[in-house]
Amino acid sequence: MPAFQTTPGTRDILPPDASRWRAFVDVFASVVERAGYEQIVLPMFEDLGVFQRLGDTTDVVTKEMYDFVDKGGRHVALRPEQTAGVCRAFVQHHPNVPWKVWYSGPNFRYEKAQQGRYRQFDQVGIEVLGVDDPLLDVEVISLAHSFYRELGLCDVELRVNSLGDTGDRARYVDALAAYLRSRETELSRESQATLARNPLRVLDSKRAEDREVVAQAPSISGFFSHGAASHFAAVQEGLALLGIDFVVDDRLVRGLDYYRSTTFEFVSTALDAAQTAIGGGGRYDGLVEDLGGDPTPGIGFAIGVDRTLLACDAESTFAAPDGTADVFVVDTTGGRTALLLAAQLRGAGLRTERAYGAKSMKSQMKTANRSRAAVAVIIGEDELARGVATVRPMDGGEQTHCPLDAVVATVLDIVSKGKS
Ligand code: HAM
Repeated sequence: MPAFQTTPGTRDILPPDASRWRAFVDVFASVVERAGYEQIVLPMFEDLGVFQRLGDTTDVVTKEMYDFVDKGGRHVALRPEQTAGVCRAFVQHHPNVPWKVWYSGPNFRYEKAQQGRYRQFDQVGIEVLGVDDPLLDVEVISLAHSFYRELGLCDVELRVNSLGDTGDRARYVDALAAYLRSRETELSRESQATLARNPLRVLDSKRAEDREVVAQAPSISGFFSHGAASHFAAVQEGLALLGIDFVVDDRLVRGLDYYRSTTFEFVSTALDAAQTAIGGGGRYDGLVEDLGGDPTPGIGFAIGVDRTLLACDAESTFAAPDGTADVFVVDTTGGRTALLLAAQLRGAGLRTERAYGAKSMKSQMKTANRSRAAVAVIIGEDELARGVATVRPMDGGEQTHCPLDAVVATVLDIVSKGKS
C-alpha cells in the first residue's frame, strides 16, 4: 500500500475520465450560453458568514462545513455550494439585472462518503437575480432538462413543488411541526431529532418507520397565498407548454433553508444507488437581502457532475471523448527529426504522438500500432540519408516516401480523408 492515498470522499479523476469531465462542462456551457448566461468564477473559500446564510438548521451548515481560522485570524470556509457566493458577489458588485450567470467547479461538504456522495464534488449551475416572473422559473428548469437531453440521458424524472412565499412557508412549518409532534412517538429516533431542529426536513426521511406519518402530513399546497398559488400554476403551465414531463411532489423541500416558492429536483431512475438526485434548485427570494443587499428575487439550479456522469454510465451515454492520436512519429536515428516533425505536425493541428528513448524500430512500431493513430511517419537511417520520411497509413493503405518539408501536408491529406 502506498504511503499516501486520496482521503475519504475525494477522488482522482484520471484520463480519460478527466476529458469526459471537461466535455461535460463544455456541453453545459454551450446550452446555457445560448440562453444568455455568462460564466462567473467564484473563490473556493469565503467568510464563513456567507455560508451560514444557507440556514442554521441545515446539516450543510451545522455538520458538514469545512471551516477554519486562517493565519490572519479570519474564520473562513470552503464553499459547500455556489448560490450563496453568487449572491454575495451580486451584493458586492451591483451588476445590472437580470444577472444571468453560470458556474462550474468543486464544492466541499463533510458528508458520509459513499457511491455518488463525496466530500469534494463538482457542480455546474446557473443563477438569475432580479426577476420574479414564473416563466423564468420555466426557462431555468427547461435548461437543466435540455442539458440532460444533450448528454443523451432519458431516465430522468423532474419533480417540482412550491414552498409558497415566506409567510406561507412559516405557517406551514408551524402546522407541520404541530402534526409531527402529535405523532412523535411513531417517528424514527433520527426523525425525532430532526423534528426538534427542522420539521420540514422530516419530510425528506426515507426510513420505513417514518413513511406513514410523512404520507399523512399536511400538504404545503393548503397554505399557499393567492400569489404563490398562481405563480406555481403558471410554472406548471409553462412546463406543459414546452412538453416537459414533471410530477408535483409536495414532499420536496430540498436541503437548504433559503428556498421559497418554486423548488425542483431531477432524479435519475437509471441509478441503483441511494444517491439518485442528479440536480436540483429553486427560488431563494430572501437570500440577497440576508447577505446585506436590497430585496432581489433569485432562482437557479446546480447539477452534480459526479452523479450525473454515474447516470450517464448507467444509461451508456456520453462516453469519454476519443483521445486517439492522428499521427505517430517513429524515429530510430536519435530522435532529433522526430522532435522537429512532431512540433510541425502539432503546429498544423494534428494530434501527434511519438516514442521516446532510443528504442528499436520493432518496439516503436508496436507502440504506434497500440496508439491506434491513423498514420505513422517513419524515419530510419535510410530515410535520414535520403532526406525523406516514410508516411504509412495504418489502415493498410499504400505508403509513400516524401520529402521532410512535405510530411505535414501529406499527413493532413490522409487524416482529413479518413475523417470525411
Ligand atoms: P444541492 O441539492 O445541495 O443544491 O446540490 C445540487 C446537486 O449537487 C445534487 O442534486 C447532487 O447531484 C450534487 N451533490 C450535492 N452534494 C453532493 C455530494 N456530497 N456528492 C456528490 N454530489 C453532490 C445546491 O447545491 C444548490 N446550490 C442548488 C441551487 C442553485 N439552488 C438554487 N440555485
